[in-house]
Amino acid sequence: MKINVKNNVDWIGKIDWELRKFHGDEYSTHRGSSYNSYLIQEEKNVVIDTIWKPFAKDYIENLKTEIDLKKIDYIIVNHAEVDHSGSLPELMSLIPDTPIYCTKNALRSIKGHYHEDWNFNPVKTGDSIDIGNGKSLVFVEMRMLHWPDSMATYLTKDNVLFSNDAFGQHYASEYMFNDLVDQNELFTECIKYYANILTPFNKFVEKKIKEVLDMKIPIDIIATSHGIIWRDNPTQIIEKYLSWATAYKEDQITILYDSMWDATRIMAENIAKGIKAKDDKVDIKLFNIAKTDKNDILTEVFKSKIILVGSPTINQGITVATAGLLEAIEGLKFKGKKAAAFGSYGWSGESVKKINKVLENSGFEMINKGLKCLWKPDTESIEQCISFGNEIAGS
Ligand code: FEO
Repeated sequence: MKINVKNNVDWIGKIDWELRKFHGDEYSTHRGSSYNSYLIQEEKNVVIDTIWKPFAKDYIENLKTEIDLKKIDYIIVNHAEVDHSGSLPELMSLIPDTPIYCTKNALRSIKGHYHEDWNFNPVKTGDSIDIGNGKSLVFVEMRMLHWPDSMATYLTKDNVLFSNDAFGQHYASEYMFNDLVDQNELFTECIKYYANILTPFNKFVEKKIKEVLDMKIPIDIIATSHGIIWRDNPTQIIEKYLSWATAYKEDQITILYDSMWDATRIMAENIAKGIKAKDDKVDIKLFNIAKTDKNDILTEVFKSKIILVGSPTINQGITVATAGLLEAIEGLKFKGKKAAAFGSYGWSGESVKKINKVLENSGFEMINKGLKCLWKPDTESIEQCISFGNEIAGS
């Protein structure tokens, strides 16, 4: 199976409708994904990236229906993570001398994954290879978008940018092109992908995009390595990335809480009431951390100007679900957001202090010292929660 992208460029990847977890258990994929590999057949024949190992045999069989493998002149590895390089050992076992073009860092990571010494040709930004018919492939290092080894490859004359992970989404669609799919679904997956994968690398994203725009190369198509291919106004996703890369926030306050016997939930709901009383325009969202997909929560954090995190105190600490989420929040290095903590307790009450510490270390501006509530909130405590919400809304 192939899908024509443009002229002599075809998609030869795998649409994975079943995938529900990616990166082990780290990323939820409610709408599946795809692993996009491309075949260019000019005077020289080129494969750009392969696909994940579980589908390697089918991938090679499919590739064989499109081309005699011995006629492949070059293989481009834009990124060595195994969802893209996983079929390389199978392919190289059949055409072992074929030159592989990749960054110096990718050379190290490919060797690290497969312990093979293939015919590597390290390239850097601006290097190119002639593929005939007046076309060439120009390489652009994309360091930390999202790995040190990441690279994009640009096909001149056809103006196709093979961007690998950048501008992708975990989104399975038989349509395969951005103009054909449900736009809400598409952008929901785009922002989730950015929030969960690229947020720590905001500075690199902004710098690299500006560098690529300064090159003033025409881009007709962005052929990513996951999800759909951008052929209708591809710069729209570049513009989105620029806005997401610069301390992105919407008029949203997100209240994240865990609860054992409802006390912290009651606090959360009354804090929300207090926010709404003061500001009925702001989008207030509440999520029970233990009951909500963590990557969906992280996307909401990405969109928020303020987050509130609440946990009851258990064993002088916080709940396991809250601790896990805070670990993910710390790792994503959000910028330009405010936060506060709250939680119920029975006797010692360390949760608020613990949450404050992690959020502060994670770069959030803390609005106040947080709110603790002894036992289940009584009338007085509920009033305190409402006042706390008032203060949050006005901050
Ligand atoms: Fe799609 Fe970084 O692998």
